[in-house]
Amino acid sequence: MNAKDCQQLAKTAVANKLTVFGLGPKLVLCQMAMPPPLSEVVLIVNPAEIDIAVNLGPLALSNPILVASGTFGYAREMTGLVDLSRLGGILPKTITQAPRPGNPPPRTYETSSGMLNSIGLDNDGIEAFIDHLLPYLAGLGTPIVVSIAGKSQVEFIEMAARLDGLPSVAALELNISCPNVSGGVDFGTDPATCAAVVAGVRKACGVPIIAKLTPNVTNIAAIARAAEASGADALAVMNTCLGMAIDWRRRRSQLGRTMGGLSGPAIKPIALRAVFQTSQAVKIPIVGIGGIATIDDVMEFFVAGATAVQVGTANFYDPTVSIRILDALPSALQECGAKSVREIVGTLIVESG
Ligand SMILES: Cc1cc2nc3c(=O)[nH]c(=O)nc-3n(C[C@H](O)[C@H](O)[C@H](O)COP(=O)(O)O)c2cc1C
Repeated sequence: MNAKDCQQLAKTAVANKLTVFGLGPKLVLCQMAMPPPLSEVVLIVNPAEIDIAVNLGPLALSNPILVASGTFGYAREMTGLVDLSRLGGILPKTITQAPRPGNPPPRTYETSSGMLNSIGLDNDGIEAFIDHLLPYLAGLGTPIVVSIAGKSQVEFIEMAARLDGLPSVAALELNISCPNVSGGVDFGTDPATCAAVVAGVRKACGVPIIAKLTPNVTNIAAIARAAEASGADALAVMNTCLGMAIDWRRRRSQLGRTMGGLSGPAIKPIALRAVFQTSQAVKIPIVGIGGIATIDDVMEFFVAGATAVQVGTANFYDPTVSIRILDALPSALQECGAKSVREIVGTLIVESG
C-alpha cells in the first residue's frame, strides 16, 4: 500500500468512525464493535520504535546478531569489510591454554550439502591472545565473548581464571563441543562432565558463561539441564555435526583427520530442532547457531526459542551478511507486530506432538 492509499484509508476511517487493523500484509477497516479475531490481528509498529536489545543473563547486548567462533577470525581480518561496532557481539576463534598447530590438511571440504572442517583448534594459545589480539578487540566497542577450550577440566578453570577481570572480556563461551580434537567433545556429550566443567569455571570467574553444546548426542536436553544447573548463564546451540566425505577412488577421507564438522545451511533444520528442544528444557537464554544466512533464518531461530543468534559459515562467502541481517531485523519484527525481540522468542505454536 503506498502513501496515497494510506492517507485515503485514514480519511475514510476518521469519516466513518472506523478503526484500521493490519491483517497480514493488508490494512482493513473495521467497526470497533466488530474487530477481526485477535489471532489474525497484526499490530502496525514503527520500525524505529522496535527494541532490538537483548540480554543473555547478565550480558546485555545492543542487538542479537553475533558472529560465530572460528568463522570470523579474530575480527581484525574483517576490518574494512564490516562495521564491527554494529555487531551484537564477536566470538573470536577458540583459544586453548597452549598453542596448537591444528589438524593435518586438508582441513576443509565443500560437500554437495554443507561444509566439512577439521581445523583442530589451530591457535597461538591464551597468552598470545591476551598480548596480541585482545587489545585490538577491546578497542572495537563491541562485546567480546572469548571462546575457550581446555584439554581437561583444570585447563578450562585455569583459562577462565586468567581471563577473569580483563575489562575487554564481556563473557566466556565454553567450547565443550568441538568435534575436531580428541577429548574436546567429551565434555559436551555427558551431563556429568559438562556439569563439572561449567561448575568449575563458574567458581573461577565472575564473567557471564555461555556453554556451547554439540548436536552429536542422543539427548541434548539432558546436557542443557546439566549446564544450567551448574551455573551457565546461557547456552549456545550448536556446534557442527560430525560428518565425513570420502574420495572413493583413493579410498581416503577428503579430510586429513578422517572426520570433521558439517556446517552451513544444510544443518539449519538440525539446529532449529536442537534450539527448540533445549529451550523447552531450560530457563536460561539460548543463542541459536547453525546454517544462518538470512533474516528469515534468524526469525525462525527466535520462534524456536533463541534469544540471540550467531552467524557462522555464511561469513566465509559474505562477511557482510550479519550487518545485512541486522538491518533487516526491525522490519521483520514489525511484520509480525512485535515491538521487541523478546516478544517473538519461543512463540512456536505446536499443533501436536
Ligand atoms: C572452519 C570452521 C571453524 C570453526 N571453529 C570453531 C571454533 O574454533 N570454536 C567453536 O566453538 N566453533 C567453531 N566452529 C563452529 C561454528 O562456530 C558454528 O558453531 C558451526 O559452524 C555452525 O554454524 P554455521 O552452520 O552457521 O557455520 C567452526 C566452524 C567452521 C566452519
